[in-house]
Amino acid sequence: MAELRMVTAASLTEPFIVSLTQMLGDLVREGAALGWTEPPSFSEVADMVENLAAAPVGETCAVIAEEELEVAGFGYWRRYQRPTHRPHADLEKLAVRPTSAGSGLGRRLLHHLIDQARTVGIEQLTLDFRGDNLAAEHLYLSEGFKEYGRLRDFVAPTAGRRLDKVFHVLDLRDSSR
Ligand SMILES: CC(C)(COP(=O)(O)OP(=O)(O)OC[C@H]1O[C@@H](n2cnc3c(N)ncnc32)[C@H](O)[C@@H]1OP(=O)(O)O)[C@@H](O)C(=O)NCCC(=O)NCCS
Repeated sequence: MAELRMVTAASLTEPFIVSLTQMLGDLVREGAALGWTEPPSFSEVADMVENLAAAPVGETCAVIAEEELEVAGFGYWRRYQRPTHRPHADLEKLAVRPTSAGSGLGRRLLHHLIDQARTVGIEQLTLDFRGDNLAAEHLYLSEGFKEYGRLRDFVAPTAGRRLDKVFHVLDLRDSSR
């Protein structure tokens, strides 16, 4: 079973970043909706995780799942920067490598991210995903997220293709998930 651990400055070894770059690249090549149109480079992934690890406690939460020294899953949220939105955070990425998908790892990562958000007092956890992402939609709805908006034909993954952008929120002020 994959082990979950927080991304910290100490965890930012080259093999870790290589493995995460590989996982994210494989997903993007398969057409996963992670915000990239091309597989991210090593330096892009390194910048992302360095930035996450350097943030003060309560600003971000990044978690990885590892199996046999390879990254099997990754996700993070980031507190909103806008002063009027500071009580809230946005879950910017959640990803499980194709060979580990469907085994409950995405849900475990999500539980961890939600629990950490609750611990640091985040009030509302938002996220968005592409309208054709049925796995994500099923997962988020089953954890209590509610759709609060949808932009029709907003996402342009490839020339001539348009998909909805769907917005979900989990209100952590509720006692139930
Ligand atoms: C979305 C994602 C993180 C889910 O991770 P996962 O480990 O495969 O998900 P889990 O095994 O924890 O399954 C969670 C639920 O989704 C369901 N699910 C998984 N794939 C599905 C699919 N293709 N269609 C519908 N439901 C699906 C599972 O059945 C499960 O529900 P259940 O417990 O009611 O049976 C993973 O598919 C992924 O990385 N996708 C690419 C990146 C992405 O789209 N990220 C989300 C947007 S940021």
